[in-house]
Amino acid sequence: MKQGRIVLAAAVFALAGLITFLVCLPSAFARQDIGLQVQGKLMATEPAPFIDGSRIMVPVREVAGNLGAEVTWDEEKQAVNIVKGEYRVALVIGQTQAVVNGENINLDSAPVIVAGRAMVPVRVLAEGLQVPVSWDGAARVVSLGKSALVAGSSLDFPPFEYKEGNDIVGFEIDLIKAIEEMWGEDIIIKDVSFDRLIPSLRSGEVDLIVSGITITEDRKKVIDFTEPYFVWSEMILSTKGADQDMGLGDLAGQKIAFQLGTTGQELVADLAEKYPDTQLLMFESLEEVWTAVEKGKADAAVISYPPTAHYLKNHPDNNLQMVGQIPSADSTGIAVRKGNQELLDKLNKSLKTLEENGTYDRLWEKWFGSGR
Ligand code: ARG
Repeated sequence: MKQGRIVLAAAVFALAGLITFLVCLPSAFARQDIGLQVQGKLMATEPAPFIDGSRIMVPVREVAGNLGAEVTWDEEKQAVNIVKGEYRVALVIGQTQAVVNGENINLDSAPVIVAGRAMVPVRVLAEGLQVPVSWDGAARVVSLGKSALVAGSSLDFPPFEYKEGNDIVGFEIDLIKAIEEMWGEDIIIKDVSFDRLIPSLRSGEVDLIVSGITITEDRKKVIDFTEPYFVWSEMILSTKGADQDMGLGDLAGQKIAFQLGTTGQELVADLAEKYPDTQLLMFESLEEVWTAVEKGKADAAVISYPPTAHYLKNHPDNNLQMVGQIPSADSTGIAVRKGNQELLDKLNKSLKTLEENGTYDRLWEKWFGSGR
């Protein structure tokens, strides 16, 4: 009996502990750091913004500064004054009273000093300086001013866009980075499966598509494209020492490898029909095609340019080389929502600049090596 009571007491004690733990859990997590975006630019601040109860607190100097306001600090009064044109916000550390554009208001959370920096509720700043503020709960990012553009991309397409560990890399990712740099704005890359890209653009989930997307008449009915910046092509692959500047006709009567289901297949099938002594070797993967040429099983291959050029660029010491290029009519552009002329014009202008200032060529060389 006595033992029973001890067991019961222990159980009650354990339960009480569990309840305390669960009740305390939210407050332990209440002060979590969050991301910050000001005027479309993601910022790393020290200290980072945090949520205090239900209020988002941000470092006043950096945020107001980036919104074009002047921030002054009165050490004696422990007061922060923020001025931008006719807008004025006056706050005091530890006090929930504030003066915003001449009116006395009450704050839910008082400004505090963290690591020597004044942290203030984001809402009073946004309302005082009349800038939009928004909260992205999924990404845990608070945004002030205009928000960053989101580019949808299916990150499964080397060397255009793909993941390398945690990094997002590729030819088009570099193009976007170059544009970001010119604009002084962040463009957030969002991984969206290829079939979901056009719906996501139309619904506003993303603002642009950068995904090796071919400009087609059908797609042009529902979305708008920039000028093309990449023209697809097939290449003729052979071994080092083979003749250069080959065209399809030069492959008549030879052993030619290709990848099943590709444009290359159509090209070599036509050739074999015209020249029946041509032998075709079909493979499922690109790697198998490369190996067949490298090992001399095939004299040449007709194969998609971008992945193969990328492979050659990264394996300079193998025995393979490009000996000819067959352009197709397909080209790639950046897509925007139908009628978003402002963004379209801005992108076209920037693409032109990148072409003119040599950035495009530099990126081409970086990802494809040769062939432009
Ligand atoms: N160019 C093709 C198209 O537009 C395929 C592009 C695939 N892109 C990707 N990131 N997976 O349909």
